[in-house]
Amino acid sequence: MAIKQTKIAIVGAGNVGASTAYNLMIQGLCNEIVLIDINKKKAHCEALDLQHGVEYLNREVKVYDGEYSDCKDADIIVITAAVPMVQGQTRLDMVESASKIVKSIVPPIMESGFSGHFIIITNPVDVMSYYVYKLSGLPKNQIIGTGTSLDSARLKLRIADIFNVDTKSVQGYTIGEHGDSQIVPWSHVTVGGKSLNDILADNKGRFGELDFEELRKLTIDDGWVIARGKGTTNYGIAATTVGIIKAMVNNENRIIPVSTYLDGEYGEKDVFAGVPVVLNATGVKEIVELHITEDERKLFKNSVSVIRDCIDKISD
Ligand code: 2OP
Repeated sequence: MAIKQTKIAIVGAGNVGASTAYNLMIQGLCNEIVLIDINKKKAHCEALDLQHGVEYLNREVKVYDGEYSDCKDADIIVITAAVPMVQGQTRLDMVESASKIVKSIVPPIMESGFSGHFIIITNPVDVMSYYVYKLSGLPKNQIIGTGTSLDSARLKLRIADIFNVDTKSVQGYTIGEHGDSQIVPWSHVTVGGKSLNDILADNKGRFGELDFEELRKLTIDDGWVIARGKGTTNYGIAATTVGIIKAMVNNENRIIPVSTYLDGEYGEKDVFAGVPVVLNATGVKEIVELHITEDERKLFKNSVSVIRDCIDKISD
């Protein structure tokens, strides 16, 4: 029996798409990558540039620029196509341009006969994930938005810094909108399995005053600091996307907070929002429903309402 071959298509050959492709190659997670972009010259030259380094990588991988028809036998399609963000815009402000782009992408991909998994990066990602779900008609477990997976990594990095441990020793999530309304269920944030409050109680004064709300706001602002400084973010979101792909390609059953379809979980129906899920070769295997407090549930509901309001603005 042939060893499983993995083909990944990336729609959008800009900074994020190219960084995602490069990250996939460095980690040896697939053996075929097709880059698709309306700027065909860009897609072609990114593919060439990536292909030229294959000799020095651990795994032979075929990288080329292609068309939607090349998506038929893709296992995973990453959607990162977007118009450049204008300074001062929020991710939600991108809904009109983003929905037009997504509407131009998904139908031709489905016409190719694609039946794999979509991973959506294009912002507003929760809203675009919902739109891809509706346009594609694929089962909900096959539609995954990056959601709050990167925000959670940013939060964990900050907490790891405060307590001087590695990020993998921090457990915790931000949930809800990948945006300003996301929340942190602090009662579920631990370092080495110990709650932040217990750590602070056992180490009086050692770590200074911890302003949880300030930490949430700084985490949300992390993306904007970078976007304001260099015009975009790309490495963090690319590594995050490849972490999601790795959990699927290696059938890891890893728990990552992604934007997924809620069908009653957390008290919400017919919407995409960032919550922890078990990821494996089937995509979203199941949703992890944290027992959040009443206050956290109210804040989560508010965050989901921000997503719903933006979904209502999708231009058909
Ligand atoms: C970020 O926060 C791309 O929205 C993504 O970096």
